[in-house]
Amino acid sequence: MLKKSFLSLLALFALLISLSVSARPAAVAMPDRYSAEVAQSIMQQGGNAVDAAVAAGFVLAVTYPEAGNLGGGGFMTLYTRPANSQKGDITPQTYFLDYREKAPKAAHRDMYLDKEGKVIPYRSLVGYQASGVPGTVMGFWQVHQSFGSLPWRTLMQPAIDLAEQGFEVSEHLQNTAQWFQNWIADKSPTPLNFTHYFGKLTAGKVFKQPELGKTLRRIAELGPQDFYQGETARKLVAEMQANEGLITLDDLKSYQAVWRDPVMGHWQGRQIVSAPPPSSGGVAIVQLLKMKQHLQGKLNAALKQAEKDGVPQQAVKTHFYAELEKRVYADRAFYLGDSDFVEVPVAKLISDTYLKERSTTVLLDEISVSEEIHPGKLESPETTHFSIIDSEGNAVSNTYTLNMPFGSGVVIPGAGFLMNDEMDDFSTKPGVANVFGVVGGKANEVAPEKRMLSSMSPTIVLKDGEVEMVVGTPGGSTIITSVFQTIINVVDEGLSAQQAVDAPRVHHQLLPKDQIAYHPDLPEAVKEELQALGYTLKRNNYMGDVQVILRQDGELSAAADRRGRGLAKVFEISTP
Ligand code: GLY
Repeated sequence: MLKKSFLSLLALFALLISLSVSARPAAVAMPDRYSAEVAQSIMQQGGNAVDAAVAAGFVLAVTYPEAGNLGGGGFMTLYTRPANSQKGDITPQTYFLDYREKAPKAAHRDMYLDKEGKVIPYRSLVGYQASGVPGTVMGFWQVHQSFGSLPWRTLMQPAIDLAEQGFEVSEHLQNTAQWFQNWIADKSPTPLNFTHYFGKLTAGKVFKQPELGKTLRRIAELGPQDFYQGETARKLVAEMQANEGLITLDDLKSYQAVWRDPVMGHWQGRQIVSAPPPSSGGVAIVQLLKMKQHLQGKLNAALKQAEKDGVPQQAVKTHFYAELEKRVYADRAFYLGDSDFVEVPVAKLISDTYLKERSTTVLLDEISVSEEIHPGKLESPETTHFSIIDSEGNAVSNTYTLNMPFGSGVVIPGAGFLMNDEMDDFSTKPGVANVFGVVGGKANEVAPEKRMLSSMSPTIVLKDGEVEMVVGTPGGSTIITSVFQTIINVVDEGLSAQQAVDAPRVHHQLLPKDQIAYHPDLPEAVKEELQALGYTLKRNNYMGDVQVILRQDGELSAAADRRGRGLAKVFEISTP
């Protein structure tokens, strides 16, 4: 009798608990499984999207050393509420954090030119003079101060564990490290220590990074103080000074991340929220989307005609995108730079009036002559991205980078982290292309403490006051066109998250003239048609690693690009 009433009491208790606990979905789309597992675990411990982003960002500095970083920088686009107001009583707002690297104070306009004024090959790309002042640690600290809810140390512990206990190397990482080691072998005037640190990465083997573990422990203990003024700062500066690098303690001490207004564009009943200068990404993506919208009628007619003529529709679309991209990359080269140094007319560049006018010369049946595409008159590979939505609907879209895979190839001895080679994103000389083949002019020339122009485009799409999409990718100058195509794939083509990121992408950027880069699985018939139109084609196996989360009809879905080593997950968070 007693046992029966005890059991009934237990059942009642379980019922009450189940009634008072509800589960809400959250999602992550991350560039590797370690960061995905840690981001999920942080949210299951009660952390929000920003907590998950900070923890995952530090994890990637360990498990994704080719792009995840302490020695680089990046951008974070957010849609969130202040940390202590997650009860649905405050409407989330959009924010953008710029933690891009800055040129050292000793940098100057002609620093990469020889006496004859010629660009010194690889000086801005490999070795000690290629690095800007890193921003990642300060960026993560500042976003955590404003929006984090779990303790800083808690967020850093997973990265410390992975550095000290090691993680299993993937084939992808092994291959990238081997390629990079061979590539830098003859490109630096001073010997580099990359091989000593990363030369033995072997797929399937556990890789430990004790020096990095100690650095992470110091940052967990002391915050950015250690990285910008303490022991880590001193190690960094000692290594720079011993090798003609430019970064000084003063550079590190004065580094700050900056909160900026994101680029906002109305498009098809949505708000596109993306990266402002010093990124060219937000401006370019809004330009592409709006020009496409202005020309949708013409495009539809061309697609109809193609169907009649038996021409693959994908070829028509690819040519159409290339036409838009010619114009967007011409604007990028002329107008875009660090808005703290040059005036960038963002509002005009994304205005309907300007883009309508700019669309009028787009040709649907032939290629516009590249030399005749000038910046509009006004009356724009290796990085890593992750996307997170927490159970309260807060979203983080984060792209950060060392620039090339493994950056400058310089590891800070005793601190175990790689330095960026972001100085190559400046225009070293007007009209001379950088490693991504894009050119620039005055707006993006080197100057002390200036931020170099970027293409990183962490983007959030809002619809009906909610996040519809969180999207971004690595890929240098292809970032812009990859994000554009992913948005189009979802909104205009009706593809699922996974289909949208896996669809073969194409890319054109004004220069090289009439060249279209494509993913290997672009159909033969499409390639033949593009060649017949006059394009040259360039196969590109790895053009971005898109990470996307979608909310459609209240349901979350997430996808990691099948070409990378990412992992996307939707899961439930129980809330009392
Ligand atoms: N380093 C690549 C970019 O920022 O666009």
